[in-house]
Amino acid sequence: MQRGPYGYFDDEAREYVVTRPDTPLPWINYLGSEDHFGIISNTAGGYAFHRDARLRRLVRYRYNNVPADTGGRFLYMRDAETGEFWSPSWQPTQSDLDGYRCRHGLGYTVIGSRRADIEAETLYFVPLGETLEIWRTRVTNHRDRTARLSLFSAVEFCLWDASDDATNFQRNLSTGEVEVEGSTIFHVTEYRERRNHFAYFACSADVAGFDTQREAFLGPYRGWDRPLVVESGRSTGSVAHGWSPCGSHHVEMTLEPGETREVVFLLGYWENPEATKFDDDGSVNTALVAPVIDRYLRSDAVQDAFDRLRDRWSGHLGALQVRSPDTHVDRMVNIWNAYQCMVTFNLSRSASFFESGIGRGMGFRDSNQDLLGFVHMVPERARQRILDLAATQLPSGGAYHQYQPLTKRGNDAVGSGFNDDPLWLVLAVAAYLKETGDSGILDEPVPYDNDPSSATSLYEHLHRALRYTLDRLGPHGLPLIGRADWNDCLNLNAFSESPGESFQTTEHREGGVAESVFIAGLFVLAAEDLAGVAERRGDDASPLHDARSAMAAAVAEHGWDGEWFRRAYDHFGTPVGSAENDEGAIFIEPQGMCVLAGIGLDDGRAERALASVADRLATEHGIVLLQPAYTRYHLELGEITSYPPGYKENAGIFCHTNPWVMIAEVRAGNGDRALDYYLRINPSAREAIGATHRCEPYVYAQMIAGSDAPTHGEAKNSWLTGTAAWNFVAVTQWILGLRPDHDGLRVDPCLPASWDGFEATRVFRGATYHISVRKKPGVTGRVAELVVDGARVAGNAVPVAPAGTTVTVEASIG
Ligand code: GLC
Ligand code: GLC
Repeated sequence: MQRGPYGYFDDEAREYVVTRPDTPLPWINYLGSEDHFGIISNTAGGYAFHRDARLRRLVRYRYNNVPADTGGRFLYMRDAETGEFWSPSWQPTQSDLDGYRCRHGLGYTVIGSRRADIEAETLYFVPLGETLEIWRTRVTNHRDRTARLSLFSAVEFCLWDASDDATNFQRNLSTGEVEVEGSTIFHVTEYRERRNHFAYFACSADVAGFDTQREAFLGPYRGWDRPLVVESGRSTGSVAHGWSPCGSHHVEMTLEPGETREVVFLLGYWENPEATKFDDDGSVNTALVAPVIDRYLRSDAVQDAFDRLRDRWSGHLGALQVRSPDTHVDRMVNIWNAYQCMVTFNLSRSASFFESGIGRGMGFRDSNQDLLGFVHMVPERARQRILDLAATQLPSGGAYHQYQPLTKRGNDAVGSGFNDDPLWLVLAVAAYLKETGDSGILDEPVPYDNDPSSATSLYEHLHRALRYTLDRLGPHGLPLIGRADWNDCLNLNAFSESPGESFQTTEHREGGVAESVFIAGLFVLAAEDLAGVAERRGDDASPLHDARSAMAAAVAEHGWDGEWFRRAYDHFGTPVGSAENDEGAIFIEPQGMCVLAGIGLDDGRAERALASVADRLATEHGIVLLQPAYTRYHLELGEITSYPPGYKENAGIFCHTNPWVMIAEVRAGNGDRALDYYLRINPSAREAIGATHRCEPYVYAQMIAGSDAPTHGEAKNSWLTGTAAWNFVAVTQWILGLRPDHDGLRVDPCLPASWDGFEATRVFRGATYHISVRKKPGVTGRVAELVVDGARVAGNAVPVAPAGTTVTVEASIG
């Protein structure tokens, strides 16, 4: 098995196994599937939250603290014989361990180790449909004598609003409240008044003691690495009033040689109905949650819930499985990239090791793009997401840039005016329709700005999205950029000179001149998608075709720089991303998006643009966003020029954009170049250079430092990025060519010359397609013959088969 410096992939188990705790950064995973989530690092750091990482945070986490990854699911073993104690997950005591391993799986994590011949391993997961996380700990005595041990748990409760919790001390140090019943600690801060929810921390064992006041547990001036209670082996029974409520159980165990003891902890969230909040004596009504707690403290229920979680994931992943000549392709497509798509769909950009969970809600453009990589797994959830997003659209066709997951309403603080936003909705709906054929969604009544009286059909929303662009064209007939387009940091109307001002929401100049070639390319793509939808409804699509052609013509006339597509025109009408510019002469986004949209494929411009990308932007670690990097602040360009060269939007490898170029290469027929670019940023392919890459090797990161940075090749901002969805689309739908379309499943691969084909199983509208693509090594080209269930079919679309049936597809290339 190939190994990286910090672990290896166990593809059979669908796990990444981290083999040393001191990874360059915390390598995290997610617990939870729909409403209740946690992030968990390879040393059990992280936190839990219910639906909203800011407003319903269960436990504290201290971002960007030292040591790294402070706050988590703490467990301590203590040996009564020696008084020695340690954390089986390494943090927070950082004691030397034997056989440390962390297995990150799909929705669960297992962390275990051995010390002094005592083994402890904990499985963490959130059962499907529940609002709690389970920690199942197994302790085994490998000694040849009896061991007298203590197991201590510890969490530090967050007082719900994670932002307020980290700032409003004059109030918060006096509000904390808990109740303790048997082995269950209830965190009930603010329950008396306006909250009807509480958190609980339960334990399956009878406890020898507990603590709920942090200072009592830790002792004065101590940290989580050496709590006084653990050191002394005695809980104090503290009950928190104000200060910092925590939860700690003390479980004593005597283990014979070879004996294993299992202890289950539950960290959960519960909402009571308003009318039954309290017991007669005024204490918190815990009767409704009691059966849930009792159930999951049972070993068989835990195992059963875990099996169901594993089965659920087998089902999700079963929608597409491939066997290709490249392990990195298979591993990412079959397991990790699909998984990351689910996580980004669930969490947008809210909570990761790099996203504090207190900032952004669900991004409009982000969520629409995340859906592209998710829709084939759970189409019903994608449908609901589309309706939620569209309901925040404005009557003008524009969109709030973000909405809040708890209220599903547009976020006023950020507002609108990111002129690309509405177009992504068209792409998302088209992808949903192609995947499901559910054209009924187009007739769903959907409000604007969540005002029910304004509802129109979703179909009308899509038209307004395009009209929003057409109503806002600039001097060259190209779309006005507004506050920014996909590139949040290209702020052509901001002209910001005050520190601290948000580049995204500040507009010191009128927005009537600066134009975006990128939005033009996106418009062409969206107009084509909507035309396809209109035709199938029997509507006249010619206005859409005309608008598309006019936009493509504007790009040809004003968006072409000679060797590549320009990026924009600034507030003074000066080109951005042009050979005329000494810095930022060429940008990746319009090369990818324009060619992806089909612009320039017939007249050689696409080829030239892609050659320019290869010559000027491609590095061994991926394709950088622009060149030359900006070395000084350009007032007229905004935040993009605020980053040091090689980072983020200023010539970093902004991974989200790379798959656009891969798709563009496929459209231009270059399978070798497409796969080459794909492998440069594929996390699994980068595992071997983990010391440089530093982030998790099982998921994409938003950014890899570009060639202008001294840290070239170092990844940052892993997990929550549109990179996940777009790479999934690029490799599965374009390189492998398994592309859902309105009338069938296209089989249209564009493979590297060295491959001899691949096999795939794809579930599409309920039927299962077993696909085999054959090609002689050395040959390139597209599908020449398509045989479906033994009969030749013209073209490359496999017709839709009845749900429940199995279809055999054989395609040959060249
Ligand atoms: C971040 C944002 C995304 C934006 C990108 C480029 O990833 O979430 O919306 O398109 O940066 O600026
Ligand atoms: C910053 C980041 C950018 C992100 C934006 C959204 O500008 O550089 O990537 O999209 O913030 O808040």
